[in-house]
Amino acid sequence: MSERINTLVLGGGGREHALVHALSKSAIIGDLHCAPGNPGIEAIASVHKLDPCDAPRVVSFCAERRIGLVAIGPEAPLAAGVADALRAAGVRTFGPGKSGAMLESSKSFSKKFMKRHGIPTADFSVCTKIEECEAALAGRKPPFVIKADGLAAGKGVFLPDNMDDALAICGELLIDGRLGDAGRTLVIEDYLPGRELTVFAITDGKSFRLLSPSRDHKRVFDGDKGSNTGGMGAYAPVNIPEGLMEDVTEYVLRPTLEGLRSDGIEYRGVLYMGLMLADEGASLRISVVEYNVRFGDPETQVVLPLLRGDFGRVVNACADGDLSSCPDLGNSGSALCVVAASGGYPSDNYERGLPIHGLDAGVPDLADSFVYHSGTRRDERGCIVTSGGRVLTAVGVGDSFSEAHDRAYARMNSISFKDMHYRRDIGWSEE
Ligand code: AMP
Ligand code: GLY
Repeated sequence: MSERINTLVLGGGGREHALVHALSKSAIIGDLHCAPGNPGIEAIASVHKLDPCDAPRVVSFCAERRIGLVAIGPEAPLAAGVADALRAAGVRTFGPGKSGAMLESSKSFSKKFMKRHGIPTADFSVCTKIEECEAALAGRKPPFVIKADGLAAGKGVFLPDNMDDALAICGELLIDGRLGDAGRTLVIEDYLPGRELTVFAITDGKSFRLLSPSRDHKRVFDGDKGSNTGGMGAYAPVNIPEGLMEDVTEYVLRPTLEGLRSDGIEYRGVLYMGLMLADEGASLRISVVEYNVRFGDPETQVVLPLLRGDFGRVVNACADGDLSSCPDLGNSGSALCVVAASGGYPSDNYERGLPIHGLDAGVPDLADSFVYHSGTRRDERGCIVTSGGRVLTAVGVGDSFSEAHDRAYARMNSISFKDMHYRRDIGWSEE
């Protein structure tokens, strides 16, 4: 057998814990490293204090450790061009370069891209002045949809239900600089009613592999109430009408890949299609709400545990531009996850450093429920404590949705920390 490939995963959240876990089971992966990682990842990979956005440092780390493959988890290093630097240094990399990352790092770029290539999305205006916002809002009905152009860690989308609030938000972003440069350009678009669906395609720009459709729950409280968050829970697969994945491929994925090619953008990694599905007579209308250029969090925590093929092989072939040589990744079963958040999240105003009770050694036990870490760290005594807004994800897997659901909640019910909160209704639309 050929030599195994030493691999580095960049990032340190629940998504990266799931990525490292899936790669740890691969027959082709050698030493597994993660930077910066977290205490859960520590149990299955070597973790390193290394800033994932520091391209020269990441490149030299790869040379020191004889890393042959890098998988980039979060959007920030992708937008910063870390994949370009790694490829230039001859390191196989899973994740698009800076130009491909613009599908996520600039909403105006991605909306214009979709328009140019005939990909269905809400009609929109790009505004840099308050008068332009007034005109864009006047031509639309509430709820209004206002998006900061740049990366805003899930806090750049606003859905005000009246004109006064909408104008106030535009002013705070454009004039007061509430989100800094990320909010100096705005996209104002039509509201899309319907049900959301996440579809990941692993692609080397030519071939692709679709993963199980999943559904995230973005609002903080039960019944989809309260502020938007990074995601409070997810499940996969979603029970979708027959033929939907074929339609997503025909109307969204293929034109996106052709668009990237015709714009001269090489794309290797995962394309996250955030979709809205709306009933239209007897058929379903599909619109793209957003692209992301990386795996979703927490969708990854439910999609990867369903894979039956060798994930490492697919990631490596994709990074190599040779995805077509890989067999399809099969899927089986169902998975559901629930996110435990700090009291006060999604605001930044929450306590950190709280002891977490009920965790095991941190190794996803592959049985039927496990925990992926997100915002955790070790304190001076080595105990695992909270360190972020989204702290951990409890995952249940099973043959059916209800088995996965009950296992995830049973696991979550055994965990506690002060002021912890989580949604009790993840998967409600499937029940
Ligand atoms: P985005 O970051 O663009 O995905 O937006 C975050 C969330 O805001 C989405 O997941 C939707 O729940 C909601 N959203 C964004 N755009 C729209 C839209 N045009 N119509 C309805 N909801 C939207
Ligand atoms: N779960 C939404 C995201 O990762 O953007």
